[in-house]
This record gives sequence, structure tokens and C-alpha cells, in this order.
Amino acid sequence: MGIEWRESLAIGVDAIDNQHKELLLRFDKLLNACQAGKGIEELKTLMAFLEEYVITHFSDEEGLQRQHRYPDYESHHAEHLYFIDQIKKLKNETEEEGVSTHHVIEANNMLLKWLLNHISKVDKKLGAFIKSGTP
Ligand SMILES: [Fe+2]
Repeated sequence: MGIEWRESLAIGVDAIDNQHKELLLRFDKLLNACQAGKGIEELKTLMAFLEEYVITHFSDEEGLQRQHRYPDYESHHAEHLYFIDQIKKLKNETEEEGVSTHHVIEANNMLLKWLLNHISKVDKKLGAFIKSGTP
């Protein structure tokens, strides 16, 4: 079990691809920790990391969109807000209830699934748009 970045996820913008690689590396750490029975500890680390990293990453992506006058900016931005909201919800839950296995599973399933889907569809569309405008 584990998750690896693969070439098919590349959107063709190095700075963004590198950030995606980092994100997947962190989720991979969580998956490996789960196998080792250390998922709960690692989820705390991941949540703390995501809270900051995702804000930087999304604002880099959105900056690029503004720079290229990307027509789908609003809907893309809305997707980012949704993800940030999911992280906040999970964080609040874990703070109120304490981190438990079901939070780890939720992070694995929901966050990772969203991320892979977002990169392979929404971010790739952005990458294609940027490339099409490059002479
Ligand atoms: Fe995005």
C-alpha cells in the first residue's frame, strides 16, 4: 500500500508539479504509518503540515491563473475552498474528539481521493490552458 506521484499526474508546470509531489509524499507517509500502526500520530503531523502548505500551494496556483487570465478561475477557486473547509472540519473534529482511527480513514479516503481527482482533472485542465497559450 502507498501512493506514488506518477508522470500522468504532471500538469506541465514544474513549480506546481513539485508541490503536488510533496503533497503525495506526505499522504504516502500517512499510508505507511497506518501499516505500521502509527496512523494516529502521523495524521496529527499531516494535518499540521496541510494547514499551511495547502494555503501556499493553492495561492500559488491561483496566482498563476490570474496571471494567465484563466477563464475557469472561479470554479477552480471554489474547489480549493472546499478542500480547505474539509481540512478545517477534520481538524475541529480531531480537536474535539481526539484523533481516532476513523479520522485517519477519513483523511486517507476523502482527502487523498479529492486531491488525486483534483490534480488529474481540474489542475491538468489548467496546465493544458497555460501550455496552449505558450508560443
Ligand atoms: Fe488546483
